[in-house]
Amino acid sequence: MTTPLAVELRTRNQSARRFAVLLPNYNFSNGYSTVIIRVLSIDDNNLMILAIATYSFPTLERRVFTDPELVPFEPPERPLGLLGLPTLLRNYIETVPRSAYEQSVTQIRTRLSDVLIVSDPQFIQEILVEKAEAFGRDPTTRRSFAPVIGETSLFVAEGADWRWQRRAVAPIFRHETLLSFVPIFANMAQRQVERWCAAQRAVPIDAAAAMTRITFEIIVEAMLGGSASLDPDRYSHALTDNFDTIPWHIIYVMFSIPEWMPYPRRRRAMRSRNFLHRDIRRIIESRRSAQSSQPDLLNLLLAARDHELGRSMSDDEIVANLLTFITAGHETTAVALTWTLWLLAKDQATQQLVLEEVRAIAGDQTINAGHVEGLSFCRQVIQEAMRLFPPAPGIARISKVPMEIAGVQIPAGTRIHIPVFALHRNVGLWDNPNAFDPDRFAPDQVKKRSRYTYLPFGAGPRICIGAGFAMIEAAVIMATIVRAFAFQPVPGHKPKPVAKVTLRPRGGMPLLITSR
Ligand code: HEM
Repeated sequence: MTTPLAVELRTRNQSARRFAVLLPNYNFSNGYSTVIIRVLSIDDNNLMILAIATYSFPTLERRVFTDPELVPFEPPERPLGLLGLPTLLRNYIETVPRSAYEQSVTQIRTRLSDVLIVSDPQFIQEILVEKAEAFGRDPTTRRSFAPVIGETSLFVAEGADWRWQRRAVAPIFRHETLLSFVPIFANMAQRQVERWCAAQRAVPIDAAAAMTRITFEIIVEAMLGGSASLDPDRYSHALTDNFDTIPWHIIYVMFSIPEWMPYPRRRRAMRSRNFLHRDIRRIIESRRSAQSSQPDLLNLLLAARDHELGRSMSDDEIVANLLTFITAGHETTAVALTWTLWLLAKDQATQQLVLEEVRAIAGDQTINAGHVEGLSFCRQVIQEAMRLFPPAPGIARISKVPMEIAGVQIPAGTRIHIPVFALHRNVGLWDNPNAFDPDRFAPDQVKKRSRYTYLPFGAGPRICIGAGFAMIEAAVIMATIVRAFAFQPVPGHKPKPVAKVTLRPRGGMPLLITSR
């Protein structure tokens, strides 16, 4: 890291004044150098004194880290067919054939199912964006999620029902609102730092459990304004009870088995689902009686009016959406952070660069909204971690009408699978796809690729509504904890990614930490 070159600037620019009041500390970076602007003073005549410093990162050369552990399994040479059912139940990404890592489209036609696996950016764009209206949520997705989060939630709804819900919650995901959540992200990360400081450090910590806890506390605070007391452990168990049954829903759809048929652990899943619904309903009732005007998700949902259909949200719809946001909004980000920390533990040079960036941008200060833009290398690291270990490792659709995709005629009702895990490691799309190289996400490199080679958040109208939230949250958490602790892998432990809903490491993620 070079010493900063600092200058002082006096200006009377009116629009710069508005900006300076909003963000008194502002940093931006292109990954190789960073500009930091601090407002020293503003007087009533708009005279501002700004300190401007630039840092450059001479050590930021190409960082490519390779390790056999970055390749967690070998894909099957051919589609597995019926013999693959046990693998599907255990870990569905292991059923995706090698062709999805090498070529554009694989058609699997068996008596059981007709699936098109699409790994070509051009056809992905066609499916998710250009012809999005011609595809619906795949029945396995609906059947897996609807019992937990409800048919009426934003995640599952379709058509006009989906559109108005998406519009209703959009304000909470505007950039300025997201920046207002940064103190919550930083405080919750700091709490975790304190928990780790208090714990005995000779034994490994479980990064997966810790990240799940932080992101759960954050989503509850940000979406319910801290008015709710939800028990993270009970929630986590209740969600796991339900998500563990997802492979059964997939198999039942493949065999056209009706929804009411029992499957292993169904009763436990239903009990957990009832607990989740009861608890969320309790929160809605207490908010209605308290008449709070906090600008949070719950109030947006309570106030939402659908002008097209002239209605507001029923309690069932509100329960479904709160559950959707709590579920979709923490587990995925926790998984992204867990793999990021493991990769940083393995690749010490990149961990050092992250630390240098955080120190240059924020020093010892608590991370604030003004620092976010400057944490560009942190973002690149998270993006690269989500390329190798995408929290949502597959995206599914079903065709509503007959059509041609990639020269293949598909009837209505064809299941489409976009194998995000395989797409992100496709040899035709990425150089050295199994290496960890955050520079792939430097702005000049991103411009060279199709947008549809990288899909951690999906694309098109159903793109993750929380992508901006997740990226800011993950960068703030990572910056806070990497500044406080050095991370090391546990010798001999090879984590195994297992896809049920998200790509969790089986058995958690033990890591060694030392205070800096
Ligand atoms: C790293 C973190 C995250 C990842 C990787 C992720 C991934 C995804 C993906 C891939 C989809 C699209 C699925 C499809 O097209 O079928 C999606 C949808 C969605 N995500 Fe996220 N997500 C993350 C964080 C969040 C957060 C923080 C929230 C809320 C605060 C959220 C809420 C949602 C919702 C509501 C949808 C459904 C959108 C719709 O159908 O219109 N996600 N997410």
